[in-house]
Amino acid sequence: MNRPYTLVNVAMSADGKLDSVARKGTTISSTLDKARVDRLRASMDAVLVGGRTLLDEDPKLTVKSKALREERLANGLEENPVKVGIVSQADLKLAGNFLTVGPARRLVYTTQRTTPDQIARLENAGAQVFVLGEEQVDISAVLESLYDLGIRKLMVEGGGSLIAEFFRLNLVDELTIYIAPFIFGGGSAPTLADGPGFLREQAPRLRLGAADEFDDDGGVFIHYMVIRKE
Ligand SMILES: NC(=O)c1ccc[n+]([C@@H]2O[C@H](COP(=O)([O-])OP(=O)(O)OC[C@H]3O[C@@H](n4cnc5c(N)ncnc54)[C@H](OP(=O)(O)O)[C@@H]3O)[C@@H](O)[C@H]2O)c1
Repeated sequence: MNRPYTLVNVAMSADGKLDSVARKGTTISSTLDKARVDRLRASMDAVLVGGRTLLDEDPKLTVKSKALREERLANGLEENPVKVGIVSQADLKLAGNFLTVGPARRLVYTTQRTTPDQIARLENAGAQVFVLGEEQVDISAVLESLYDLGIRKLMVEGGGSLIAEFFRLNLVDELTIYIAPFIFGGGSAPTLADGPGFLREQAPRLRLGAADEFDDDGGVFIHYMVIRKE
């Protein structure tokens, strides 16, 4: 299967939570980490988020630094990477950040749960919409589609359910994590990989690339390579 090279990036608490139990998109990254994520985003062809993150938080997913956007343009790239949403029922805010903040190409991968009327509204708002699945989006088919659209480097920015599915399907090449020095706890708070979980023998294996302390708030940055399963 042809697919983009795929990096997952998250910020989490020291106990592995991507958010607090409030699930309101709590800030976890330090200032230095935000700048790192911006540079990483600027190096990508596309950035992707899952449905709950998309619908509840409506992220912009654009490159924040003007200098980095200008660098992309100077290199013959679009100002921002392609924005990709994976959402079972694509009830997006038409005036929201994902659809309006750019310039950026916007792709929405959804299922038959999205009505033709919703699809038409998204297309009128400038998004390209792909129906790949009945109840949940077929992630392998999404990656093949992205490859066909010319995407070679993809960054997955969460949340925990979607990341779990990428790992389950063996579709992750790299993982970068910023670990903030605090504890969120809470059994219902999202973690780096939710979903049904892996038993020890099936657990995706990682090889450490780098681990650095960020001196602005005492957090730690970790870079892993995913060991490919045959
Ligand atoms: N700290 C960070 O770096 C970071 C980054 C991003 C998000 N977050 C946090 O993560 C939380 C959201 O994570 P989440 O796990 O609840 O949601 P999510 O991963 O953002 O989205 C999952 C949803 O996507 C839809 N989906 C469609 N096809 C799917 C598939 N094949 N596999 C998995 N999901 C599929 C499902 O919607 P249906 O259930 O409707 O089918 C599913 O509930 C928020 O609190 C957000 O703030 C943190």
